[in-house]
This record gives sequence, structure tokens and C-alpha cells, in this order.
Amino acid sequence: MTRVLFLTTCLFAACQGAVEQKTEIGLAADRGRAIYSDYCASCHGANLSGGQAPSMADSNWEYGGTDDDIRSVINAGIEDVGMPAFGNVLQNDQVSDLVAYIRRGGDGKSTPPTDSVPSVQDQVQIETWADNLEEPWGIHFIGPVTALVTEKTGKLWLVSPDNRVEVKGVPASANVGQGGLLDVAVDPDYATNGWVYLSFAHTSESDPDLLMTKLVRGKIGGASEEPIWTNGQTLFEAKPEHYLKGGRHFGSRITFDKNGYLYFGVGDRGYKDMAQDLTKPNGKIHRIFRDGSIPGDNPFLGIEGAYPSIYSHGNRNPQGTIIHPETQVLWETEHGPKGGDELNAIKSGVNYGWPKISYGRNYDGTVLTPHTALPDMAQPVSQWTPSIAVCGLDVYTGNLFPEWNGHLMAGALAHETVRLIKVEGEAYISEVSLIKDKGRVRDVTTGPDGAIYVALPTKIVRISPKT
Ligand code: HEC
Repeated sequence: MTRVLFLTTCLFAACQGAVEQKTEIGLAADRGRAIYSDYCASCHGANLSGGQAPSMADSNWEYGGTDDDIRSVINAGIEDVGMPAFGNVLQNDQVSDLVAYIRRGGDGKSTPPTDSVPSVQDQVQIETWADNLEEPWGIHFIGPVTALVTEKTGKLWLVSPDNRVEVKGVPASANVGQGGLLDVAVDPDYATNGWVYLSFAHTSESDPDLLMTKLVRGKIGGASEEPIWTNGQTLFEAKPEHYLKGGRHFGSRITFDKNGYLYFGVGDRGYKDMAQDLTKPNGKIHRIFRDGSIPGDNPFLGIEGAYPSIYSHGNRNPQGTIIHPETQVLWETEHGPKGGDELNAIKSGVNYGWPKISYGRNYDGTVLTPHTALPDMAQPVSQWTPSIAVCGLDVYTGNLFPEWNGHLMAGALAHETVRLIKVEGEAYISEVSLIKDKGRVRDVTTGPDGAIYVALPTKIVRISPKT
């Protein structure tokens, strides 16, 4: 029934793609939400906790934690303690929907308040690997001790502990507000083809006040003491009329999957409603082939005027995107407004809801949207309120910290932290804080030696086990 209703609210043929992406479980959980507010929230609290009856947001189940246990509590009640029986009130499939909603963690799992996230900083040693850098934004290792590093101010460097050379001739970027030279990544086949990818804030040719995120690739040529950017190609740029004023929300991490696709985000540029508009490039995750061409199975190709590279929409400011090497899940971290920073598992054609749904508020504390969930919009896998200001995301794949293998590593500006996040498939399990109060974190990566490298405001630090 809900599925049919949803289809009729879809104006475009391509919405069908989005419907198919939304799993049965997701739809059931959305239906369960309404039943929960009608019958359960008065005792158990909004969003599964905070009421007089026990929280269902944690994993403590007094009466058994299997789906069947939960069903039978709902149906039969627990007479002596005031949990009513709903067996005569709710249909079987309504109970299933409730279980789906409870299993999803309600409207979205909230991570514990920042102060109570356990720290593992005393288990590691932190040493400076490269200093005297100006706002390093992206790090990507290309050799055992050599990394490509972007500085927000516009320079690309080849950095190793005892040497540093600038790669001359990279495209001009606009170092305005949050804009600048942003991410750097290399082709999965870099060893044979040499392609290096850059994202940056680009100034409109017609008006120096207008900016938008742009993506290019090129190769590093010239002598090793005087490397230069060559073979430059533009892979993505917005239409001239879509360049915008202001220095906010450029998004822009670059990541590759094993099927030849390249993914990157463009933030909403501070124009929040455009995140819902498929004819605008901002507030989106894009997918292209590595040469910039458009995959024939991108989700919005059928919509007139839509950017063909759009892969998902309703994304506020994605400053972390990474394909998990084991599962190929596209993980994304995006900044919320005041509160509501999100960890998402990005899927083709899905609407992540900004600004129609959010766990955050306006910066002045006023309500931005009354909705944290709506039927045709995906929930975050996890969210941080208060915001930690997420920036940079990678997967730990080294052998110095075997227990963290496969964990996400999420950097954060405001909270000056790196969160190690344990995930299973598309599920959030737990997180710890790797470092804290060392400075605003813009990027984090696993080095070839298995250490973790973190970009701080003026340097890159190397994190290894404490000896
Ligand atoms: C009138 C208040 C009230 C309402 C309404 C209510 N519950 Fe409960 N529920 C309770 C109480 C009280 C307990 C805990 C009993 C205890 O602590 O021993 C409970 C326990 C439970 C448990 C078992 C938790 C565990 O730890 O194993 C589940 C599951 C549950 N409720 C689900 C629901 C659902 C779903 C609804 C809505 C359909 C609902 N409840 C409506 C009061 C309520």
C-alpha cells in the first residue's frame, strides 16, 4: 500500500530506481515509525528512548532480543509491569513494521555524546611526519615514503620525510572560505597509467565572485626535482549558470570502486534547497567513469535537465567519501548544520533528505525542519549531535593495528578528532576516538607502512602503536 502511494508521488520515471533501492526493510521501518508514535512513544519516549519505559535504542533486552521475542512482548504484553498487550490492537504486519523500526534504531542511531566516546589515544604514539605545511587538505601515498599532499592555498606537493617538491602548473583554485585546492587521489591503475585526480573550488570565467567545485586529472611529468602537471583533462565542471556566490560547502573527496566508477561529492554551497533539485549539481554525490564520461546506468539519466552525473541527492556537505575495499559500500560523512553530522551508506538514486529532514538545527538554535524522517528519504546509518564537523574519511587497511582492520577513520574539524568506526556491511557497530585536541583534522589515510597519517592545520602526523 505505502509502496503504491509512494510511486504516485514520484513525478519522474527515474524515481522507480529510487524505490527499488529502498529496501523492503527500510519501507517497513518507515511504516513502523508512524505506528510507534501512535502506540508506544507515550511510554518508551520519542525515537525509542527517553520515556519511562526502558529504552529500545540500546541492545539490552530484558525479555529476549530476537525478532520473535520482541514480537511476543508486543503481542502478549508483560502484565505485572505495565507493558500492555497489543495482540488485539495491531495486525501481524503492523507488528512486523514495528520490529523493523526498532531494528533500524528508530529514526536513526545517534552516537553517544562526544565526551563519552572512549579514547584509545593512550595506546598510540603520535609523531610529526611533515611540518611547515599550510592547511594540508588531501594526502595520498604514491610510494613507500612519498605522498601527494594538497594545500588549501593552491599548491600540490610531493612530500617525503626528508624532501619536498612542489608540482608546478596545477590548475588555479580559489582559496575562498572553505574553498581551495581540495582532494587528491590517484587512479587504481596509477602504477601503469600515472593519472592523478584533483578537486578544487573553481572561479567562473565570466564573474570572479562565482565559484563551483571542479574535478580534473593529469599526470606528473618533468624531472624529479622539478615535477610539472601535464596531460590535464577536465572530468567534471558545472554549467556556467550554476556557479554560485560564497565560500561554503564544496564537498569533494574522490574515491573509486572496483568496477571503474569514480565518486565525488559537491556540497550544497550554502543553498540548501538546491540539494533537492536534480537540475543543480550541488548537494549531490556524483558518479562518473575515470575519463569523465557518464555511466549508462546512472539513476537520473531519464530526467530532463538533470545533471547526468548525479548518483544521490539531498547531501548537505560531503567531505568524506570512501569505497570500503572489502564490501564496496560507498561510505560518506557529511556536515550537518548545528548537530546532525551524518554517516551514510550511499546508494544509487537515493534521496538523503537535506534540507527536508535533519537531526540538526539552524546555527542560531531555531528549528530548521520539524522532520528527522520522511517516507521517501534515507536515514543516516549514524549521526553526531552535537556536530563533530566531519572532514576526511578512509578505511584502515594496514597491519600495525590488526584489530582496526576494516574500520572507518573519520576526521573532524571542530572536535579535533579522528573517530575509528567499526562497521559490518552497512551497519554501524561502535566508535572510539583515536586522537583528540591535536588540531582540526582535514584528512586521514592508511600509509604503506600500516601507520595512520592525519592532516592537521600545519603538519601531517604519523600514528603507530605505542612501544
Ligand atoms: C503504558 C506504557 C507502555 C506502552 C504504551 C508500551 N510499552 Fe512497552 N513496555 C512498557 C514497560 C513498563 C516495559 C518494561 C517492563 C520491565 O521493565 O520489566 C515495556 C517493555 C517493552 C519491551 C521489552 C523490552 C526489553 O527490554 O526486553 C518491548 C519490546 C516493548 N515494551 C515494546 C513496546 C512497543 C513496540 C510498544 C508500542 C506498540 C510498547 N512497548 C508500548 C510500557 C509500555
